[in-house]
Formats: sequence, C-alpha cells, structure tokens
Amino acid sequence: MPTLLLCSATDDLSDLHTLFRNEAARRMPGLQVRLWPDMPDPADVEAVAGWYPPAGLMQTLPNLRLASSIAAGVDHVLGPAQPRPEVPVCRIVDPGLAAGMAEYVLWAVLYYHRALDQAQQQQTQQVWKMPVQKAAHQTHVGLMGLGALGSHLSQVLRAQGFVVSGWSRSAHAIDGVTTYAGPEALEPFLQAPDVLVCLLPLTDATRGILNRKLFDTLKPGAALVHCGRGEHLVVDDLLQALDQGPLRGAVLDVFAQEPLPASSPLWTHPRVVVTPHMASGAQPEVIVGQILDNLQRVRSGQPALNTVDRSAGY
Ligand code: NDP
Ligand code: OXD
Repeated sequence: MPTLLLCSATDDLSDLHTLFRNEAARRMPGLQVRLWPDMPDPADVEAVAGWYPPAGLMQTLPNLRLASSIAAGVDHVLGPAQPRPEVPVCRIVDPGLAAGMAEYVLWAVLYYHRALDQAQQQQTQQVWKMPVQKAAHQTHVGLMGLGALGSHLSQVLRAQGFVVSGWSRSAHAIDGVTTYAGPEALEPFLQAPDVLVCLLPLTDATRGILNRKLFDTLKPGAALVHCGRGEHLVVDDLLQALDQGPLRGAVLDVFAQEPLPASSPLWTHPRVVVTPHMASGAQPEVIVGQILDNLQRVRSGQPALNTVDRSAGY
C-alpha cells in the first residue's frame, strides 16, 4: 500500500502523525501514513516527511519519490540522512512561519534597543537607573540571511524605524535595506550592526560562522540574536567575546545539542538569554497540507514546490 513515512530520530511526532492520517484519509484515500519505527515494506514508501530522520533510512527505500523536512531548515534531511540524488528534497515555506520569526526577532532587537538587558541586570542589584534610550533610527540591525525569513523580517524591522542591512550568498535588492553578498562582503557588512541576527541555513559554508573572527569584526557593544542552527555558533568563542569583548549579550534559540545540556555554561551566563528553539514554526495543518500537496504534485508528474538545491545544501 502506498505509504508516507513520518520519522524523527529525535522527537515524538505522534500528534503530527494523527493529523497526517486524518488529512490523508480525507484527501488521498489509499495513502497509508506510518510513524517510524513502525515500518511498512520499504518498497511501499513513496514519501518521507521528517525532522532529523534516521541516518541511512531513506537510502533503503527503493520507490521513494519525495523527501520533505517538516520545517524550514533541511540540514537534517541532507548529510547522512539524504535520499538518492534524484529524489526531490523539500522544505516548508510559509508566511505564518516568517511572521512568527519576525515577532521573535523584533522582541530580541527591542530587548537590546530599549536596554532591557541592562534593566534586568540592574534589578538583580536593586539599582534604579534609567538606561540611555535611543530612537529606532539609531539602532542598526544586520541580518545574516535574506531568504524567506530574513527578507520578511527586514521589512518588519524597517517599518519599526530600524536601520537594516543584510548579507546573503547571492545579491539581493530590498527596499530600504543595504545589502551585501558573498564571503568577501561579510567583513564590511559586520562593521555597522548594533544587533546581528543569524538566519542562515546550516551548510558546509556556514557551519561555525559565528566564531571569534566574526565577533572581533563587530563594533564594541554589539549583540547577537541567533535563530539559525546551533552548529553555526562556536560556543567557546561566544563566551570569550562576551567576557572579554566586544559582545554585549546574546539571545540564543538554537543549540548544537537540543535540549541544551544542563552542563552548558550558556544556561547561567548573565548576558545570555536561552530560549528552547521556539522562535518560529509553521502550524501543523500547514506542514501536513504542503507535504500532501507536494506528494500529489509528484504523483501527477509536476515538480515539487519548495525544493532545495542539494549542491548548495539549502
Ligand atoms: P532560505 O533558504 O529561504 O534563506 C537562506 C538565506 O541564507 C538566503 O538569503 C541565502 O542566500 C543565505 N545564505 C545561505 N548560505 C549562505 C552563505 N554561505 N553565505 C551567505 N548567505 C548565505 O531559508 P529561511 O529563511 O527559510 O530559513 C533560514 C534558516 O532559519 C533555516 O535554514 C533554519 O536553520 C532557521 N530556522 C530556525 C527556526 C527557529 O525556530 N529557530 C525556525 C525556522 C527556520 P541567497 O538568498 O543568496 O540564497
Ligand atoms: C526550522 C526550525 O527549520 O524550526 O523550521 O528550526
């Protein structure tokens, strides 16, 4: 029986499984939805939807014709988990996901712009002192990544009056945003931001990019908001940049190991805010709808939507 296999080696996807089953029964009768490790005959699997699918699993599925991340990022579906080269790999692209990310980053930018970090530190010592309050046009926000999330965010920040610049792999022209492209433009891009936001995908080119050299290029007192992937960040370099300069603070939403282990010094650093990978996510109905739409498309010979360039890794 044709099967969509939902799988994660890290997370419990039972609720999403129920939703997938109900939607498949309504829209695509005859399609069975199984939750790994409850495996059907491998030859029956037409599509895999996953969040950190088990390494090697997709290579054992001879009739696989669609592999989809259940999220915006695809790093976890590539690498050791990736299917044969001819299988399209897709991701979720959704205005609601972009809106949620913009809310989270706007909150983090305001946290530094309005000096709430300083007020919070003062509270621990019962100090009553109004921090300097700047106008929005005096705060420069630099976005690493101008894709589905970064480009929407740039407009939300602009609408609030912030000065916005962005860095991407290829050149972009975005209204009111100073843009930089390519590795040689990274250093000039890093000169201006008061708040640096990372919204890059994890690829061979971006792994470890938030490192000592990058922090040393920022202006003194800059803050980091990191919503990409944990593996972008070299934690020891961050701690050094916080304790010895130039970084003022960091809001971190993603970590190389999630949940963040209890032993991590990030939990207790006074100038680090840790959030549990909550910056944004598509609604479950959107995830299920987009993946079933894509399966219908490939079944009818149409190209899948939101496919990624496997050679670029995103
Ligand atoms: P997109 O693929 O739409 O955009 C990626 C952006 O990064 C593009 O602008 C791309 O450049 C740029 N980029 C990629 N590689 C490089 C590079 N080597 N140098 C410079 N720029 C580069 O992704 P999304 O905007 O949808 O998502 C970005 C990431 O956000 C996801 O991969 C995921 O890791 C993370 N995420 C985190 C969430 C959370 O809750 N914390 C939720 C959702 C996503 P170009 O435009 O030239 O292609
Ligand atoms: C994503 C994420 O990639 O949640 O969508 O990190």
